Amino acid sequence: MSGGLFPDITADDGLIHLPGFAASDTDALLALVADITARSPFRHMTTPWGKPMSVAMSNCGDVGWTADRRGYRYAAHDPIGGAPWPAMPELFRRLSENAATAAGFPGFRPDACLINRYQPGAQMTLHQDRDERDLTAPIVSVSLGLPAIFLWGGATRKDKTRRITLASGDVVVWGGATRLNFHGVAKLKASQRPEAVRINLTFRKARA
Ligand code: SIN
Ligand code: FE2
Repeated sequence: MSGGLFPDITADDGLIHLPGFAASDTDALLALVADITARSPFRHMTTPWGKPMSVAMSNCGDVGWTADRRGYRYAAHDPIGGAPWPAMPELFRRLSENAATAAGFPGFRPDACLINRYQPGAQMTLHQDRDERDLTAPIVSVSLGLPAIFLWGGATRKDKTRRITLASGDVVVWGGATRLNFHGVAKLKASQRPEAVRINLTFRKARA
């Protein structure tokens, strides 16, 4: 333990876990997610190999991450409907900038927020976040709703992974030397409440 509340660095492997950093904001964040996804709905994007992803996604911000048969990219418009993605709410921006600062990355200015919805059974296999032009900026990831097991790997796909339980209100941040580390999310367990889901907000600086 570091002694302070934040950050709680439980392992020296480049993942900074801020337990409960967003705990007092979870209801407000989920209400904003509902507003955003009323305009740009959750959808299961298709990988370049034609497989629908188990995680449903939307975006807010200047650009949004999209996947389809042509590949992965950031786009200023929602391919469903063609309108710009909803603007990034001020609370999203402030929370992500404060978390980055607490994790040792002052000056973070996200221009994209990917919104992931995991229903029980959904998972995200190990991958790198490498579609962004600015790799000097960190990634800030906020967990809401059902807990999930985050898989934190290394620089190569075959490096061993650490499993970290992320609860609602937890934030994880990585950047610098580990910006391109492999990571993923284990298959979400079913809960007692059939309607319950996990929502993840991933803040990034996508454009240079
Ligand atoms: C991601 O890697 O884009 C999502 C991570 C998460 O859902 O915690
Ligand atoms: Fe990722």
